Amino acid sequence: MSKRITDNITWMGKVDWELTMFHGNELSTKRGSSYNSYLLRGGKKTVLLDTVWGPYDREFVSRLKQEIPLDQIDAIVMQHNETDHSGALVELMREIPDTPIYCTAKGEAIIRGHYHRDWNFVNVKTGDVLELGGGETLTFIEAPMCHWPDTMFSYYDGEGGVLFSNDGFGQHYASESLFNDEVPACEVLYEAEKYYANILNTYSPMVARKVKEVVAMNLPLSLICPSHGVIWRDNPTQIIEKYLQWSDAYQEDCITIVYDTMWNSTRLMAEAIARGLREASPPTTVKILNAAKEDKNDILTEMFRSKAVLVGSPTINYGYSYAIAGILEMAKGFRFKKKKASAFGSYGWSGEAVKLIGAELQAGGFELVDEGIRTLWVPDEKALEACEEYGKSFIGKL
Ligand code: FEO
Repeated sequence: MSKRITDNITWMGKVDWELTMFHGNELSTKRGSSYNSYLLRGGKKTVLLDTVWGPYDREFVSRLKQEIPLDQIDAIVMQHNETDHSGALVELMREIPDTPIYCTAKGEAIIRGHYHRDWNFVNVKTGDVLELGGGETLTFIEAPMCHWPDTMFSYYDGEGGVLFSNDGFGQHYASESLFNDEVPACEVLYEAEKYYANILNTYSPMVARKVKEVVAMNLPLSLICPSHGVIWRDNPTQIIEKYLQWSDAYQEDCITIVYDTMWNSTRLMAEAIARGLREASPPTTVKILNAAKEDKNDILTEMFRSKAVLVGSPTINYGYSYAIAGILEMAKGFRFKKKKASAFGSYGWSGEAVKLIGAELQAGGFELVDEGIRTLWVPDEKALEACEEYGKSFIGKL
């Protein structure tokens, strides 16, 4: 079903309530998602911005036909061409093969690389304008690495100003309501932050530059329409302000302890360290997350908002656990900035996990505050006291 957003803009997307994982198994989407496609009827021209994921291509084209005769679509704008947005192109272009596809040069290369078709591409750059007639325009703004090289935004100057931002400012959030003021704010903000942490944080320098560039344009803005989740209608610039914060080495007064455990020794250490942290700094939010049990993307989101992390694992096979290895690898890819860290863990004989975790944290850009703490076999009362003291001393090193 299409949904009217404004007089001139109709949502043609697909709400995917069933989606639980995205990017293969890389990203959990516990609240589903949506693939937002927008039909913009400008003064004299009609433009379709983005499509939907491939499994919904026929449904999409069929609904589009109910909304408008396809030959009345003057142009297709592909702002980013990962398959969740370009997946219905083949089905659509079968019907209107000569319709121009406006995209960046990188966008054309990505479409060609995915679908191997020779469509009518029109490459656009920042500042290029698609005249919509009646004095209205759609202006393109390249936004490379926010989040793929082909990404661009499109700004419609009608109806108070509408920024189509593709993945930027999006959330994996399924909702029958289309607007941020019609859904619980805390849910949408958490999903937007999780989205930023897990998808965009790696490219924060480029994101920060682009968002500042858009802010400096001083564009009137009544709506921000991302390609996933709800549209920012109530106070749309709130998400721009969040992006400015999130892209600038973001941290709150939080410390996250991530651990894995075989027979509970490392868990007992984690809990004792947490007691020490709390005692030394009561206002600090401390979270203890078992990497083998908690969702990896929620763990990374907690790490994203933390000023420091402690990572613990028992020594196993001269290394550390599978779950901790995954978290360390993801954290390295996220390129966190200005976060402090340390390692801990129990051991029986060789005991190198703490040292190896510390090295991985350093390789991931964390500032290691010390050599960490180890416990031989099961921690007794004295060992747990040492962990508490370690937690207190950790606060002093931040
Ligand atoms: Fe990078 Fe929503 O696709």
